[in-house]
Amino acid sequence: MINATDILEKLNKEHSLSLAEYECLIENINPDIMEKAAEYARVYQKQYYGNKVFTRGLVEFTNFCRNNCYYCGIRRDNGQCERYRLSKEDILECANAGYELGFRTVVLQGGEDFAYSDESICEIVSAIKKAHPDVAVTLSIGERSRESYEAYFKAGASRYLLRHETANPVHYGRLHPKEMSFEHRMNCLRELREIGYQVGAGFMVQSPGQTAHDLAMDLKFIEEFKPDMCGIGPFISHKQTPFAKEESGTLEMTLFLLSLIRIIYPQVLLPATTALGTIDPCGREKGLQAGANVVMPNLSPTSVRKMYTLYDNKICTGEEAAECRGCLQRRVASVGYEIVEDIGDRVGFK
Ligand code: SAM
Ligand code: FES
Repeated sequence: MINATDILEKLNKEHSLSLAEYECLIENINPDIMEKAAEYARVYQKQYYGNKVFTRGLVEFTNFCRNNCYYCGIRRDNGQCERYRLSKEDILECANAGYELGFRTVVLQGGEDFAYSDESICEIVSAIKKAHPDVAVTLSIGERSRESYEAYFKAGASRYLLRHETANPVHYGRLHPKEMSFEHRMNCLRELREIGYQVGAGFMVQSPGQTAHDLAMDLKFIEEFKPDMCGIGPFISHKQTPFAKEESGTLEMTLFLLSLIRIIYPQVLLPATTALGTIDPCGREKGLQAGANVVMPNLSPTSVRKMYTLYDNKICTGEEAAECRGCLQRRVASVGYEIVEDIGDRVGFK
């Protein structure tokens, strides 16, 4: 009978498995197979990125959101969430400060907040590009129309992060209210790719109701769609959401999946996320050792950080951007990696 170690070896050779094989790997997670997967993953990490770690400066510019995802702390119906919006000037200040600190990618992330028209998003993007032509502007502002995505691209945005959240439409229905559509989200990802963005997909690990089969579907989706970046982090409950009492995802499963994703798509950009740093004090360092090669420190003004609380106990909500960068530099170095001042494209992206 074929065992999980043989399946892992097959994945390392072929970069592809059947759904049943992915499921078997996930069900048989143990310290030995995690270490073997991390070893394979580090070979690819080294081959394509050496010991270099790319940074993305995250500007969380609005926590208003029209959506009501059951897991998310800034969901529309969370009446206890204190809301804020940053002005164009505030955002530019964050981007400028980030540039001085060595960031060459700025990620503008927010809830789905249509108070920012397409025109205003384009103005913000082009102002950043005008001030810093050598900076990549990434957007992460949810589902919008193809025309909107095209306009942002023309204005200078070149990357877009939109996690698919789960590749199983039935599980998607467990995480989101009826008015949200799995097909629409997936279609947005396809449109973003067609327009020419470097695209980031991704999912939460061990979100409520997620089975090994669902995770296998996520891995198969990553194998087939090949997003330039894949953001995964543990689901962490938030006390003001319908999932307040649900258990959070584990460090072990997140690390194992990071390694598997690196093996599936060796050139992928793979962040060690803040959520991973939240469930374990050395989560991000362990993420790098499992195959991740990106970190995304916060550039938002400290005055608003605590208001962008997607999940409980989020780290780095009190530090200045410079402190955060310094802290991460030390953390990354402590495990033998090095933060570089680089735009950080995926290897092979044209
Ligand atoms: N509105 C944009 C979107 O939908 O893509 C970007 C912001 S959204 C808050 C960013 C990501 O946070 C989501 O894609 C989701 O995976 C993650 N997230 C939200 N709530 C979370 C939670 N409770 N635990 C872990 N991750 C969470
Ligand atoms: Fe933000 Fe450490 S990365 S304080």
